Amino acid sequence: MSQTTPFTGGLYVITYGCQMNEYDSDKMASLLEKTYGLKLVTEPEEADVVLMNTCSVREKAQEKVFSELGRWSKWKAKKPNRIIGVGGCVASQEGKVIRQRAPSVDVIFGPQTLHRLPAMIDEALRVRGDDSIKKKKAVIDISFPEIEKFDNLPEPEVNGVSAMVSIMEGCSKYCTFCVVPYTRGEEVSRPFEDVMHEIEVLASQGVREVNLLGQNVNAYRGEMADGEIADLAVLMHAVRTIDGIDRIRFTTSHPNEMTQSIIDCYGEIPELVSHLHLPIQSGSDKVLAMMKRNHMVLEYKSTIRKVRALRPNLSLSGDFIIGFPGETCDDFKETLALVEELNYDRSFSFIYSERPGTPAAGFPDDEPMEKKKRRLFMLQEVLNKQTLAISEGMIGTVQRVLVERLSRNSFTEVAGRTENNRVVNFEGSPELIGQFVDVEITEGLTNSLRGKLVATPESDTHVAPQYHSL
Ligand code: SAM
Ligand code: F3S
Repeated sequence: MSQTTPFTGGLYVITYGCQMNEYDSDKMASLLEKTYGLKLVTEPEEADVVLMNTCSVREKAQEKVFSELGRWSKWKAKKPNRIIGVGGCVASQEGKVIRQRAPSVDVIFGPQTLHRLPAMIDEALRVRGDDSIKKKKAVIDISFPEIEKFDNLPEPEVNGVSAMVSIMEGCSKYCTFCVVPYTRGEEVSRPFEDVMHEIEVLASQGVREVNLLGQNVNAYRGEMADGEIADLAVLMHAVRTIDGIDRIRFTTSHPNEMTQSIIDCYGEIPELVSHLHLPIQSGSDKVLAMMKRNHMVLEYKSTIRKVRALRPNLSLSGDFIIGFPGETCDDFKETLALVEELNYDRSFSFIYSERPGTPAAGFPDDEPMEKKKRRLFMLQEVLNKQTLAISEGMIGTVQRVLVERLSRNSFTEVAGRTENNRVVNFEGSPELIGQFVDVEITEGLTNSLRGKLVATPESDTHVAPQYHSL
């Protein structure tokens, strides 16, 4: 702790949205623990500092923020010394409007200024304690000071054997429907050596799997000490050499950034999982053009074909937007046909949500919501069927599982994850945690699988993952 703490209670954090936000929330928690000794609590009533890390990708996510803030104001009325902070993309987009709608908020920070939280909280406490300041305002900093944030965050702390590592921030693609470039700023990559150092520290604390994160992670261009630029492929080749790191994931990717060198990694890096999350949004070239995705369906399919040539068992997932302005029934049928053809695993699909300030917000949109809902339902039916078939196809196969923890249901079982991110529960001792083991899948349940241990830690008998029905 670097200063005497003004707080006696704990820290409560709510996170909405993507993995980048989860990563940022972890960083906020360790920063505030280091600065004020604040420990995370599970009930907001026990907290002196309550933070909300928000998402504005869709309208619903944004509305949740204001309803939650309404509840928090009531708690604050009971304990006025409490600090309320709002961060993330809604904070970035709305700024002081948040304070106008929710006057109990003390601190408003953006995704790129969360490292300044301690200084902002100190300022909020100072303002509160100074009686000469009549109209007390929130402390607001939603600027984009490039990658400064990573230089000011504490060294990573591990809780588990798998860790997320943010390697780039922001997005410069400006799809016509999306707020991210406006709320998180343009693409900025962390220097190569900084990323490597973070992963080395994590590995030295027992981490075996890293998930490299970014809004467009495959657009990573990190400067190296010698002035060269490392892309994601160079980074992954380097990460695989770190002692202890035996599994690499990356999320989330843009189809236009799937360069041949990244595709080649599937043939060259055994530590890279046989899973790819590659959003396409629509199966219609016309809609893709209106979305300004800058690629055609054929190019996307060609990328998938190349990756599957190297990894025939690749599990593919994607993001889909239904009911984009101008999407016709025929456009939607093209999306369905693409999904049927490529066979997706656990994907995300949502109805288009109009985001203020984006170009698509001005596009004419005559399709009734009822029709859009029906299309979404039809798409999700197909996606769910495909996911179920993949889970069922895994029964009887042997999967490489990273054991993460004790099972939640039984003291004699442990739980881990397969390459395609399925949780598997199986009989095993706690010593297996942190090890890669081979598990035969015996049963598929709605949200997880059950299995039987067939080869113990890192033994030579390891079998490459198999899927029956892909
Ligand atoms: N890199 C990814 C890509 O290539 O598309 C984008 C990540 S974006 C933050 C996450 C997802 O949110 C998108 O893939 C898209 O499906 C969804 N999304 C973004 N804006 C949306 C909107 N206005 N309405 C519905 N879904 C949206
Ligand atoms: Fe959004 Fe398109 Fe970037 S979906 S995050 S603007 S690639």
